Amino acid sequence: MRTDFLPFHLPDIDEAEISSVEETLRSGWLTTGPKVKEFERQFAEFVGARHAIAVNSCTAALHLALDAIGIKEGDEVIVPTLTFAATAEVVFYLHARPVLVDCCPRTLNIDPERLEKAITPRTRAIIPVHFAGQPCEMDAIRDIAQRHNLAIIEDAAHALPARYRNQMVGTIGDITCFSFYATKTITTGEGGMITTDNDEYAERMRIMSLHGISKDAWKRYTAEGSWRYDILYPGYKYNLTDIAAALGVEQLKKCCRFYEARKRMANEFSEAFADIEALTMPFVNDGVQHAWHLYVVQLNLDRLAINRDRFIEELKRAKIGTSVHFIPLHLHPFYRDTLHHDLREFPCATQAFERIISLPLYTKMTSQDQQDVIDAVRRIANDNAR
Ligand SMILES: Cc1ncc(COP(=O)(O)O)c(C=O)c1O
Repeated sequence: MRTDFLPFHLPDIDEAEISSVEETLRSGWLTTGPKVKEFERQFAEFVGARHAIAVNSCTAALHLALDAIGIKEGDEVIVPTLTFAATAEVVFYLHARPVLVDCCPRTLNIDPERLEKAITPRTRAIIPVHFAGQPCEMDAIRDIAQRHNLAIIEDAAHALPARYRNQMVGTIGDITCFSFYATKTITTGEGGMITTDNDEYAERMRIMSLHGISKDAWKRYTAEGSWRYDILYPGYKYNLTDIAAALGVEQLKKCCRFYEARKRMANEFSEAFADIEALTMPFVNDGVQHAWHLYVVQLNLDRLAINRDRFIEELKRAKIGTSVHFIPLHLHPFYRDTLHHDLREFPCATQAFERIISLPLYTKMTSQDQQDVIDAVRRIANDNAR
């Protein structure tokens, strides 16, 4: 058995990131400036989008995106119930109402059929979340959005680099929001990026991300800038720092290498677990590139004498860190009491929640670390089989 605890996640940071941050610290320019511009340029090129706007979180990105498409009081925005708080809370920021929708049992992504049934005359937008890094069924979602005249804001917090039928995530919906939170596929500690091909949305999001003041306000402290600025709207304070962007520029260079390593490890997990009847492995649709941010197994509880919580406890005793993505929103007190959904609307997410465990999957893991995870999962499944 392991002697040290294997954390659920560790970032992959080396000398390149450390020197880049050091260089920025020595440059005298700490907040939004040349490094942010470089990060935005490189990110836009990487996903193939016309605009990339760096912000200080994916939550900020989602908020700015909803503002840009004009979400206002009384509007409805469809979101999956199996997601993180951020996806739905931003709808409340604009005094609109999130409408929760159940997932598909195999991919755990939003179910397009249920999504269409949730549309009302007040619906304005859909926020598909590419769960664990697997793109949602975007053909079906695009078709629904077109027929009902809805905007698509993608929550791609897990989905870098991901593809749907050869189209990079970041170029599919009207606006796409990425996260560089510490556990994500590339990180800036905290951070996010918004991509869009729409010039008007891009301009509005840039302005709103920095107090609603006129374009390139950050330049006012440079030789090219001027002290004068105009406030156009009451905006927010969502800009990314150059310190964070210095990390981001280096991490982005490694994004494909990190992805290849996670993909290999995910395949190794799936091969190693193939004969364990108590486990259902992640299912990958044809025609997608799954970013493998998370490796989420589902327990077949009818084959086990213990529940998910006990399974996690046993893994912890074996010194393996895990997580659960996610506690569905409809089970949280705020959403239960505010939205008054009927529990029967979410059979898939409610059942999946009892069965899911996210195993460690990151490039800093050694092959021995991965073997320890495999051995522990196998032993716990065997010892508690029924
Ligand atoms: C699906 C999803 N959306 C949004 C977010 C929010 O990202 P951030 O922490 O960058 O605001 C997260 C973060 O974990 C997430 O998992």
